[in-house]
Amino acid sequence: MKQQSVVYLDHAATSWPKPESVGEAMIEILNGPSANSGRGSYGMALQAGRTIFQTRMQLAGLFHIDNPNDIVFTSNTTEALNLAIKGCLKPGDHVVTTMVEHNSVRRPLEYLKRTQGITVDYLALNPEGEIDLAELKRAFRPETKLLVCAHSSNLLGSILPIEEMSRIAHEQGAFLLVDAAQTAGGYPIDVKSMEIDLLAFPGHKGLLGPQGTGGLYIHPNLDLEPLQHGGTGSQSEALEMPQVRPDRYEAGTLNAVGIAGLGAGVSHILKLGTERIYTHEWQLTQNIMAELGKIKGVSLLGPELGKPRTGIVAFTVKDQDASSVAFQLDRKFGIAVRAGYHCTPLGHMTAGTSAGGAVRASVGYNTTNKDIEALIAAIQFIAK
Ligand SMILES: Cc1ncc(COP(=O)(O)O)c(C=O)c1O
Repeated sequence: MKQQSVVYLDHAATSWPKPESVGEAMIEILNGPSANSGRGSYGMALQAGRTIFQTRMQLAGLFHIDNPNDIVFTSNTTEALNLAIKGCLKPGDHVVTTMVEHNSVRRPLEYLKRTQGITVDYLALNPEGEIDLAELKRAFRPETKLLVCAHSSNLLGSILPIEEMSRIAHEQGAFLLVDAAQTAGGYPIDVKSMEIDLLAFPGHKGLLGPQGTGGLYIHPNLDLEPLQHGGTGSQSEALEMPQVRPDRYEAGTLNAVGIAGLGAGVSHILKLGTERIYTHEWQLTQNIMAELGKIKGVSLLGPELGKPRTGIVAFTVKDQDASSVAFQLDRKFGIAVRAGYHCTPLGHMTAGTSAGGAVRASVGYNTTNKDIEALIAAIQFIAK
């Protein structure tokens, strides 16, 4: 089938295209002598186990995690966040979070509020997505168990000061859960120096792996209740899930094909370097902002020009519905962006765009200046 030419600016939803090595690694495990990891000691089962462990080691290297077995594989960030939130919280616990969280944080918290009697405080951020650390400190109570935050807002592109936030959480006796959906692979993350207790990440966005992959890092001193119960291929006589990691949190057959692809994606990232990817994406966003900022009727969301941000630029066009702008970009110009509420209604309250949502262009490791020029020319035409 002939590939349709497209300017892809929706990397915040999923990266595309993936490096060729990702598909190759997946086909190799799919067609090669690879069986079910942890379900036998014959060669083909061990081969699958080796491939999976290799990806765990690469992720540990990327995030500076001492023991690769403290990383558990999930099918996306959402599952990792559910495991972290539901596995950590008990009735009566209090949670501090922010007003720019994705529904993958907010919905599990609201579910536990309804069913388990936990309490949640959503801390307001300014429209640029900046946090007031003194206010954050005041939000803690003796029963606060968890501080949860998106490392980068998927609407504003703002980046939170994780080191300072983890220091405050730990001083108050709480754990820190970081939603790295918009930073894993595209921004340096060091769980040790940032003192992160739980890190939820997607495999399919900045890490360049296939959809259906993700993971959760769990600090060795933190024991979560498993989200799923079932076969692990280990301690089969026990009624409880094994204590040993990663088995405790990985019931059932793993997505070995996807994890092999994720390993190839992480290898690609390690070769490019997260600092280089961040700089490349930042320069592209600055370009978009500088040029869109000149167009009458266009308003930009998030941090000002020159400030740190991930590869996200959301904007509105005066008197035009966000979905209509995205529709025109797609149909008339072959440019793929996302429009609407981006699963963060509270984020839109923060940005002041609750009425109509926003258009979001998001760049990736392979976005070029030519892609950006195409977007700018199209918005100049649409906003006229
Ligand atoms: C900040 C944030 N959290 C969570 C998610 C959910 O990620 P996933 O689709 O991998 O479950 C997203 C997806 O865009 C996101 O941007």
